[in-house]
Amino acid sequence: MREGVIDMETKVIKVNPINPEEELIKEAAELIKDGKLVAFPTETVYGLGANGLDGEASSRIFTAKGRPQDNPLILHISSLEELKPLVKSIPKEAEIIAERFWPGPITMIFERSSLISDVITAGLDTVAIRMPKHPVASALIKASGVPIAAPSANTSGRPSPTQAEHVIEDLYGKIDMIIDGGATGVGLESTVLDLTSDRPTILRPGGVTLEDLRPIIPDVTLDLSIIKDGENIIPKSPGQKYRHYAPKADMIVYCGDVEDIVKAINKKAKELVENGKKVGIMATDETKDKYQEGMVISVGNRRDKRTIAHNLFNILRKFDEKKVNVILAEGVEFQGIGIAIMNRMKKASGGNIIDV
Ligand code: TXA
Ligand code: MG
Repeated sequence: MREGVIDMETKVIKVNPINPEEELIKEAAELIKDGKLVAFPTETVYGLGANGLDGEASSRIFTAKGRPQDNPLILHISSLEELKPLVKSIPKEAEIIAERFWPGPITMIFERSSLISDVITAGLDTVAIRMPKHPVASALIKASGVPIAAPSANTSGRPSPTQAEHVIEDLYGKIDMIIDGGATGVGLESTVLDLTSDRPTILRPGGVTLEDLRPIIPDVTLDLSIIKDGENIIPKSPGQKYRHYAPKADMIVYCGDVEDIVKAINKKAKELVENGKKVGIMATDETKDKYQEGMVISVGNRRDKRTIAHNLFNILRKFDEKKVNVILAEGVEFQGIGIAIMNRMKKASGGNIIDV
């Protein structure tokens, strides 16, 4: 739990993540209906939920997280019927994607309907909508009877929570309830796909990859801000412009040939340790025995990058707990889920990426 003022009582309840207990979900849903804040697990990361049709309730999310007001929220639904009243129209691509990937880790941007408060969209004409797959998220939305507005349930700027303990660390005393449904699956946030521009554009890479989308919407593309580092590229997703997912330590990400990465990290680690720094090395299963200095933690397996996505945020928080001064991290190839992993590493390091 974080130091600081405890503003309110936070109830923490444990639920069965596969078959959530009806009574417990009902209790949480009553809070949502009542304008309160409830954190809950999804298949990507934990969300901090409020009644998405209640502007005042949703505005409390910004206060609890310390989130900038100009960063819009995602509305979560539990069935396709709930989509219609929230949007102006449903493009053909959206129908195809929903059919194939909903419920699941992809958020789509639509033209908004007048039902939606400016608090949710931060004044934009568009709205982000996702149908999560996690049984607890789905049951909570159904029982609440309203779309649930939910950003990731972390303090703004910190790594997103993939376990209830992370939510407790950041938001205990600031929200009404935390539903503990164990660790999340994907471990990174959903893909955000804009369907309101000329070409379907991925604004944030996530659980559903570019390669997953291409066969069904061939003209899908990545937003320039994901590919390039240029300062003059303005991200279309407001959330992409902030430093994010950031550990307290400085972080350097090394990209290139694995052997060269190991060499470069070993050299840098030695230098830092000699200068009295506490060093954390974010290695992989294949390389973890090749480091001589520092606290080495494997983030997952290079041949199964989904394991790296699953562990990434948790390991960033672990290094914070151990109070390391510098994290030296191995990058991964920019393909498949690797695009999302590199996007989060880039943001966590403040763009501190070295090509070896
Ligand atoms: O996996 C997820 O998406 C998680 C779980 C809880 O569902 N939620 C999540 O929410 O990551 P959040 O608020 O941390 O990120 C939402 C992202 C931000 O980058 C935001 O700027 C973008 O979606 N976004 C929301 N509404 C948008 C809009 N109308 N146009 C463009 N981007 C939008
Ligand atoms: Mg977030």
